[in-house]
Amino acid sequence: MCGIVGYIGKKQAAPILLEGLKKLEYRGYDSAGIAVQSGQGIEIVKAQGRLSNLVEKAGGMSLKGTAGIGHTRWATHGVPSECNAHPHCSADGAVTVVHNGILENFRELKEELAKSGYIFASETDTEVIAALIGGHYHDCGDPLCALSRFMKQARGTYAIAVLFRDFKDEIYLARKDSPMIVGVGEGEMFVASDVPAILSYTREVYYVDNLEMARLKADGALFYDLNGKIAEKQPVTVDMDPSAAEKEGWEHFMLKEIHEQPRAAADTFRRYVREGKIDFSEAGVGEELLKPSRIVIVGCGSAYHVGAALQYVIEELARIPVRVELASEFRYRNFIFEENSLVIAISQSGETADTLAAVREAKAHGAKTLAVVNVQGSSIAREADHTLFTVAGAEIAVATTKAYSAQLIVGYLLALEFARLNGKMGEKEYASSLSEIASLPEKMQTILARKEEYRAFAAERFNVHDVFMIGRGVDYAVCMEGALKLKEVSYVHTEAYAAGELKHGTISLIEKGTLVVGVLSRNSVAEKTAANLEEVISRGANVVCLMREGCTAGRFGAETVWTVPSVAECFAPSLLVLPLQLFSYYLSVRLGHDVDKPRNLAKSVTVE
Ligand code: F6R
Repeated sequence: MCGIVGYIGKKQAAPILLEGLKKLEYRGYDSAGIAVQSGQGIEIVKAQGRLSNLVEKAGGMSLKGTAGIGHTRWATHGVPSECNAHPHCSADGAVTVVHNGILENFRELKEELAKSGYIFASETDTEVIAALIGGHYHDCGDPLCALSRFMKQARGTYAIAVLFRDFKDEIYLARKDSPMIVGVGEGEMFVASDVPAILSYTREVYYVDNLEMARLKADGALFYDLNGKIAEKQPVTVDMDPSAAEKEGWEHFMLKEIHEQPRAAADTFRRYVREGKIDFSEAGVGEELLKPSRIVIVGCGSAYHVGAALQYVIEELARIPVRVELASEFRYRNFIFEENSLVIAISQSGETADTLAAVREAKAHGAKTLAVVNVQGSSIAREADHTLFTVAGAEIAVATTKAYSAQLIVGYLLALEFARLNGKMGEKEYASSLSEIASLPEKMQTILARKEEYRAFAAERFNVHDVFMIGRGVDYAVCMEGALKLKEVSYVHTEAYAAGELKHGTISLIEKGTLVVGVLSRNSVAEKTAANLEEVISRGANVVCLMREGCTAGRFGAETVWTVPSVAECFAPSLLVLPLQLFSYYLSVRLGHDVDKPRNLAKSVTVE
């Protein structure tokens, strides 16, 4: 959501902070600011809106200093404004803070401070954090002591970077449930909430652990537990290609990442398939884990939609009961965990607050947890019992595409292993299923080669107001993802519906000009979905039929037909989703929206 950067070394901090914030621009935000320790104390500059506003403002101020912190804000408490933008200071100016997360008990803490006469300048919870740390520092005179006292009274999530006016050559950090890393350079240290912010400077990083504090100087970092005891840790080398954070000639990250899907699918497949066998041993996933009697899949947004598709695939191939749950619901629903349940958590970022909480909930009830995650070193990857990594590379566009595709591949491979070990799949079927999955990247390429078809359609239908996407079984799961993609980037109202459910109420919304996309990949139900499409055609809808080649839907009156190459039905979601992603992308661009940073959205949702 929000982004944090920090620098301490020999160079001027301001340009490095602004450059780091630029790398976090993709996360979507509404204001930004930086603070630098200068000869005159701590100098702060903030601006509402795009980063270019801050760059312009900071350019006119020539901030001098070699230590500083910066922030991009995605408003939670208080409207997007310069006043509410971070950094925030304690009233005496001794403490300056940037913060990701939400301080849940901020109202009561703020009221207490207000009663004692404290005057707040902003509406944010972060200013309360600055005030609290400032108060503790005033009492104890020690930054670590002040931070630890704050951490003991705070409820909620936070990653904070703090400048203390009296400690000019130091930056302090503290973290709970919101990611933060420290990058190690030559005589310089970096801070970031996300790896891409510092990737052009260093790949050596420390992960700040939960409920940990850190003291950074130019020549090194020390980490402490909540009671101030030193925590030993070693830096790790991040395996991420810096070019992932660059557009490399593509008009937008989303288009680039849509085109990276064949590569992401192939790399993910190659990571776990060797010599015709699936091998999850690198994650310590052995036979015992792969023989659950029940499976629960948790995730949010698109990751949940991957789970929705996998529910059908796993049940069909392995005949093991699967439930798919929104992580935000699962964590509070007092779920009944049955013996030998496996909870699979799916997350691109590995930092989604609800999914992380779902993993903790499952572990607390003794369930085994397996994460499918894209970002190494992320919280979910570190907390789940086992983690299978997708090999999508850094995903920058807010709307996920290549991570979704890579997650499906891991899910298919899991389904095959569940099926084999559950005695539901013989060697021949196992081998042919693997070669079907292996064929997906090439088939994806043929869809991408026809992208003009989807661009032209988006250009023609740019004034569409309502879209419905309907399908049965796994096709319905594809509709859910297609509908989310279309609404998040084009802002066109779109709903996914199980095809058979439409006439139980929603069909009243179908009128002349409504666009209905029918997804048809399964022979057993294609004619039924086709019949539902006929029903909306006779009520004036314009129908697109998105079909797997070879699917036997029979003849019906769809005015537009999009086809994807033939593939085994279970693995068709990997192909069917591409036309829907491309249509969403082109419609957004045609409507003049900021497709990589849709309004109100942020990449990596680290608050509830
Ligand atoms: C949609 C999208 C979101 C994410 C969701 C979960 O395009 O990107 O719906 O899928 O916020 O994020 P992760 O996968 O990081 O847990």
